[in-house]
Amino acid sequence: MSTKERTLTEPFKIKMVEPLKATSEAYRLGALRQAGYNPFLLRSDDVFIDLLTDSGTGAMSDKQWAGIMSGDESYAGARSWEHLERVVKDLTGMPYILPTHQGRAAERILYSILGGKDKVFISNTHFDTTRANIEFTGATAIDIIYAEAQDPEVDLPFKGDMDLEKLPLLIKQYGKENIAAVIITVTNNSAGGQPVSMANVKELRKICDENNLLLVIDGCRIAENAYFIKHREAGFENYTYEEIAKEMLRLGDAFIMSAKKDGLVNIGGLLTMKDEVLSVKCKNLLIISEGFTTYGGLAGRDMEALAIGLKEVFDADYLHYRIRSTAYLGEHLKAKGIPVVWPIGGHAVYVDAKKLYSNIPVDQYPGQALVCDLYIKGGIRCVEVGSVMFGKYDEAGKLIPAPNELVRLAIPRRVYTQSHIDFVLDVFDDILEMRNQTKGYKITYEPQFLRHFTAHFEKI
Ligand code: F0G
Repeated sequence: MSTKERTLTEPFKIKMVEPLKATSEAYRLGALRQAGYNPFLLRSDDVFIDLLTDSGTGAMSDKQWAGIMSGDESYAGARSWEHLERVVKDLTGMPYILPTHQGRAAERILYSILGGKDKVFISNTHFDTTRANIEFTGATAIDIIYAEAQDPEVDLPFKGDMDLEKLPLLIKQYGKENIAAVIITVTNNSAGGQPVSMANVKELRKICDENNLLLVIDGCRIAENAYFIKHREAGFENYTYEEIAKEMLRLGDAFIMSAKKDGLVNIGGLLTMKDEVLSVKCKNLLIISEGFTTYGGLAGRDMEALAIGLKEVFDADYLHYRIRSTAYLGEHLKAKGIPVVWPIGGHAVYVDAKKLYSNIPVDQYPGQALVCDLYIKGGIRCVEVGSVMFGKYDEAGKLIPAPNELVRLAIPRRVYTQSHIDFVLDVFDDILEMRNQTKGYKITYEPQFLRHFTAHFEKI
């Protein structure tokens, strides 16, 4: 393959197509108004390029589709389960493997057992469903990344790392008996999709051992993280991506995976662990709420496709294309003068909306304004990762804003080609032209948890 990389050559050819519908700007304005200015509430048929999430939106390979046909649908002890269990045991090195229908089901099971009032969870950054599942049990979730990594512009190789200077202070402050678990999210989705270094997880392991704490790896993008380690962390140049992932997973006590990301499937999740006593408790909850221990809410065909996906995702050509194509969007946006979180992460490009829309105050949600403008101008759907997602209110009802106002352009795996991404780049030219006239939003409806999914907005 060319090393010049002017053109991204997708390492696959297309065997099946799904038509995209172009719509007019007037049509999209109407659709967005009807959706309460919340793109989560749009019909996907009204979306041209869907960058809402990289979760469950990828394209499966011919081999995975063949696996769908040969999946074993037996209720118990299915062949497809045995295949999946074998692959996951090999990947994680953990003996207890529980399938779930998606990541948050694994989170609910594990964190409802570990959590409860007065318990504390510490993470580099809790993803929103992680935080919600923890807070739902009455426990507290605390995020600690290094202060300099919170600067969207500073160029550091592992901005997803946990702040290991703060961790011992928190352990002391809350008492180690009250720390339910330490969770390292790789890559760190809510903080720009930034990678976590092996050194950070190794050191974390040490601190957990010293304090007898459970270390959970939330590794739904573990393969993408391995790419960054191989290319940025000394000592891993000659490792395969799979070897790097295996080494990292062996540092954890438990592993949670939304397989909808690096499992390369449209549905699925995993919860694995080393401790037998904990696994029995989890299996009990799994059976009550998800399904029997050999399918956990998945069809046999889903498990077959996942077993294949978990091997394919470590393919060197695939991972190179994956990380480079995300970087292609980010680097070209930066070259246009669009402020983006730097360096570009693995699964998404994060635009700094506070900076781009500096005329919109934070309590008028500049990120939501950009999300709406991208849909109106180009039919592009993406998500705000700022004060809509993470904002809280003080006692007087005043917004406590999130540290950053970002907009995430998440790239589905193996779905869009370079020309789709070039179209997205063109739409940003319109955004740059209109940036000073655009207005903010206010919230007119919001639920108690995960408000960004269903909130309604009004233009100010
Ligand atoms: N952990 C992380 C780091 C995630 O990114 C997600 C999902 C989950 C857990 C929950 O998994 O969706 O299968 O229940 N992230 C998606 C996203 C939704 O768009 O980033 P799930």
